[in-house]
Amino acid sequence: MISLEGKNIMVTGGAGFIGSHLVEEYLRCGAEKVVVYDDFSSGTIENLSHIKSGLLKIIRGSVLNYNLLNKIVKSEEIDIIDHQAAKLEVYSGILDAKREARVNIFGTLNVLNAAIKNKVEKVLFASSAAVYGQAKKIPQDEMHPLEPHWPYGVSKLCAEKYCMQYNKLHGLNTVVFRYSIVYGPREWFGRVLTMFIKRIFLENESPVVFGDGSQIRDYVYVKDLVKAHMLAIINDKANGEVFNISSGKGISIRDLASLLLEISGKKLGIIFDDPKEGEASRYQPERVRLPKELKVLVLDNRKANNILGWRPETDLHDGLIEEIKWITENPWRWQVKPRV
Ligand SMILES: NC(=O)c1ccc[n+]([C@@H]2O[C@H](COP(=O)([O-])OP(=O)(O)OC[C@H]3O[C@@H](n4cnc5c(N)ncnc54)[C@H](O)[C@@H]3O)[C@@H](O)[C@H]2O)c1
Repeated sequence: MISLEGKNIMVTGGAGFIGSHLVEEYLRCGAEKVVVYDDFSSGTIENLSHIKSGLLKIIRGSVLNYNLLNKIVKSEEIDIIDHQAAKLEVYSGILDAKREARVNIFGTLNVLNAAIKNKVEKVLFASSAAVYGQAKKIPQDEMHPLEPHWPYGVSKLCAEKYCMQYNKLHGLNTVVFRYSIVYGPREWFGRVLTMFIKRIFLENESPVVFGDGSQIRDYVYVKDLVKAHMLAIINDKANGEVFNISSGKGISIRDLASLLLEISGKKLGIIFDDPKEGEASRYQPERVRLPKELKVLVLDNRKANNILGWRPETDLHDGLIEEIKWITENPWRWQVKPRV
């Protein structure tokens, strides 16, 4: 096990889905202290309530509040910042690109500035496959053209460029991760996988697939992703680099629905629906079709393997079982309006 003994770690967005798994692992690996810095706009205290450690400190604050952020980084003597806080609802971002730009770009600049000011050792940044846009070749490696087709991807691309630039200009150790689609326990409700699981396992209804379901996606299990962060913290060769974090394998949305049906053992079929972009499904009105959907998303993860020695270990089937177990034990977590 990697030791984080003596390290004070801040996780911005630590009350969120991915952030809460990072917090858990940093504490398990012996961090001196973990500070969650979160405005709780989408994160919840329930994501952290199972953690009983006295070494966890939770601060309610926005990354847009530089003075507070800087004060906490200084007073808590933070060594490492894992910057997860972001707005990531793709459809809302299309309707209001400024909101995403504010949090994802200016929020990241605040984190980077506070890091320099307080001589933070390393900043890890959560970027996204959305920086690539439509795939020109499969799998997409880190050299793939960067042509985001949604404002969310533009904001992440801009923020990651600042991370790289701060590394070169100020010598700040930054590591950028481009995650594919992350899943696992505590995933928030709104994306297609959560819609399928809710329908099949909580409502006993057939999953609704848009189009013919041939869209290909790459799902990476959240606990595998956490391991990549641990390896990047202890490896100086990660500094100034960008890594895809993915399963490296594609599955069609139709096959994903079939896999879930198989796991459930229920005699339900698949409903095919074809709403227009931006319109809701007639079978599942809470589900809206995204404009300009990606046809294929599969990220090449060989760089993370070569430099960090990281590889995804969790099979999609096994990871789905963990997520299903969590939500069937906590069904109220998805009794909310979907985040879009
Ligand atoms: N979930 C995925 O599949 C995925 C894929 C690619 C990249 N990412 C990136 O990973 C990170 C975590 O995503 P997640 O899925 O855990 O989402 P999440 O919404 O569960 O977590 C984001 C957290 O950031 C907090 N936050 C938002 N605005 C804030 C602000 N102004 N100040 C402080 N905190 C704020 C939210 O309250 C929440 O706790 C994000 O940066 C996201 O862009 C996620």
